[in-house]
Amino acid sequence: MNDAIGRGTPSPADDATDAAAAGFAVQNGHMRAIRAGVAGGPEVLEWVEVPDPLPGPGELLVRLHAAGVNFIDTYQRGGIYPMPFPHVPGSEGSGVVVSGTDGFSPGDRVAWAQAPGSYAELVVVPAARALRVPDTVELDTAAALPLQGLTAHYLLRSTFPVGEGTTMLITGGAGGVGHLAIQIAKALGATVLATVGTAAKTGPALEAGADHVLVLDRMSDVVADLPAAVRTLVPGGVDVSYDGVGRDTFDATLACIRPRGLQVLFGGASGQVPPFDLQRLNAAGSLFVTRPTLAHHLATREELDWRAGELFGMLDAGTLHVEIGLRAPLSAARAAHEALEARATTGKVILVA
Ligand SMILES: NC(=O)c1ccc[n+]([C@@H]2O[C@H](COP(=O)([O-])OP(=O)(O)OC[C@H]3O[C@@H](n4cnc5c(N)ncnc54)[C@H](OP(=O)(O)O)[C@@H]3O)[C@@H](O)[C@H]2O)c1
Repeated sequence: MNDAIGRGTPSPADDATDAAAAGFAVQNGHMRAIRAGVAGGPEVLEWVEVPDPLPGPGELLVRLHAAGVNFIDTYQRGGIYPMPFPHVPGSEGSGVVVSGTDGFSPGDRVAWAQAPGSYAELVVVPAARALRVPDTVELDTAAALPLQGLTAHYLLRSTFPVGEGTTMLITGGAGGVGHLAIQIAKALGATVLATVGTAAKTGPALEAGADHVLVLDRMSDVVADLPAAVRTLVPGGVDVSYDGVGRDTFDATLACIRPRGLQVLFGGASGQVPPFDLQRLNAAGSLFVTRPTLAHHLATREELDWRAGELFGMLDAGTLHVEIGLRAPLSAARAAHEALEARATTGKVILVA
């Protein structure tokens, strides 16, 4: 059992894999899950049979409805973020409580962003991290919203106070975080410029409400062309730039910001940004730069409830729409990772149990 993947994370059952793969009935006390045996590409993901996880004090046992797929799952699978191997990937999902505690009862519908081992039929979810799913929200949507929604929320509400009149740029405007962030930013009154990789992704970014969509593969030199395009639309540069693509766009997005504005590097889908000379911030206009992460923005139960409450409230009000671009069986996690890493997805990817 590995501490880093949580007390309830299943350990692999070496001898049961073939039976499950062959379609035999799974014996009592065992479930099926995705396992990353070693660090590597999507091909290391296997559909295996493992012992049911056991919840400890303060933990719920939840029957998975769907797991959310996030870019961080690919970093962890690939060994870019340190992880023990083998591990069951995933940290997000929705489902129905099997055994409850701390006010949660069997049958309750819950969702979560922070439960390691979520690519599994049964998931141990810390009660302190479980979100009650409102009756009006379907479990597919509940699986798709927490991690990327809470991320979009803290980026716009805490990292920079986006509001009426804010001008902002965001990369990956058709992706999971991007699609939600554009909608929230528009509801807050911002002018939103979004980048997408290809023209085919323009539609989802516009549907989310982006005021302008900039197509990166139409530019011969992104570092020169993106700032020129942005500064034509917003003379002087944007107040804040949110860059989740990282290595391929960082220099370009940094050059789009007005003096004393903020660069928010929130991910590295194209690779990690190499070491950075702080003197560049001086020359670029006394800029600020930050590299935030979700865990530090869900510091207390109150903070989690505040952010989740605003997101569910927006869903209810119809101001937030969760776009599920790919809904696949849990056993197809490998194909889902391949699609995400090939930039072939839009919106959210979920894996249904
Ligand atoms: N810091 C945090 O707290 C936090 C939390 C959640 C997610 N994130 C980060 O947010 C970013 C978006 O995550 P997500 O889960 O919502 O994924 P996503 O946006 O659905 O997918 C990533 C997007 O990155 C773009 N991209 C550009 N170059 C790429 C490349 N070489 N390979 C793959 N994708 C590339 C693609 O959009 P285009 O083709 O349109 O360019 C792709 O759709 C990731 O960097 C992730 O790590 C950060």
